[in-house]
Amino acid sequence: MKIIMLGAPGAGKGTQAKMIAEKYGIPHISTGDILRANIKNGTELGAKAKTYMDQGLLVPDDLIVDLVIDRFQSDDCKKGYILDGFPRTIPQAEALDQALAAIGENVDYAINVEVPDENIIRRMSGRRACVGCGATYHIVYNAPKEENKCDVCGGELILRDDDKPETVQKRLGVYHEQTQPLINYYDNKKILKEVDGTVDMKDVFAAICNILGE
Ligand code: AP5
Repeated sequence: MKIIMLGAPGAGKGTQAKMIAEKYGIPHISTGDILRANIKNGTELGAKAKTYMDQGLLVPDDLIVDLVIDRFQSDDCKKGYILDGFPRTIPQAEALDQALAAIGENVDYAINVEVPDENIIRRMSGRRACVGCGATYHIVYNAPKEENKCDVCGGELILRDDDKPETVQKRLGVYHEQTQPLINYYDNKKILKEVDGTVDMKDVFAAICNILGE
C-alpha cells in the first residue's frame, strides 16, 4: 500500500501518518523529519535546507526528489510506505510518478487532510516537538504526560523554528500556491480521498482507516 498524505502545514499529516504506519506495518517517510535530521547532524544538505525552511519556503525540488526516490527503494518499503510532506509541487509529483512507473508501480491513495487556515495558526503555536526523537505533541490537544518532556524518550520539547506565527503565515501562502494544486492532480488520477482534519485526531484516524480498509 503506497499512500501520500496531503494537507496544509499543521493539518495533522504527521500525526496521522505515524498512526497509519504503526497500524499497517509500513514505514513513515517524512521529508520534513529527514531534513530536520540533516540539520541536527550538520550535513551539507541540512545547511542548505535550513536557509529555506527558516523562511517558510520550500527546499528546491532537486535537493528533495532523489532523496525520496532512493528512500522508497529500500528493503523496508517492499510492502508499501506513507509519504508525508512529499510530493509538494507538481514537478515533485511528476518525478514520483516517473520513478514509480519505471518499476511498474503507482500510488494507491492520496489522502488530503482538510483544515481551514484559521485553525492552523492556533494549532501550530501549541505544537511541541521532541529534540531527541522528533515525536510531536500539542499543549492542549495532545499534551505530554509531563510538561516539556517527551513521553517516548524523555527529550526536551520545543517550538519548531518554523512554527512562529509569521513563518506559519508564509508557509500557508506557499502551500496554497505550490502544494494545493496537487489536490486536482490526484483527483484527476482518481486516487484522491478527503478527510475532515478539524475533528478529534482519533476520529480523523478512523475516517482514514475506513478508506484504507482493515
Ligand atoms: P514538514 O515538516 O513536512 O512541515 P509541514 O508540511 O508544514 O507539516 P507539519 O509537520 O508542520 O504539520 P503536519 O501536517 O504534519 O501536522 P502535525 O501532525 O504535526 O516540512 C517543514 C519544511 O521542510 C517545509 O516548510 C519545507 O521548507 C521543507 N520541506 C519538507 N518537505 C519538502 C518537500 N517535499 N519539498 C520542499 N521542501 C520541503 O500536527 C500539527 C499540530 O496539530 C500538532 O501539535 C498536533 O498534535 C496537532 N494536531 C494534529 N491533529 C489534530 C487534530 N485532529 N485536532 C487537534 N490538534 C491536532
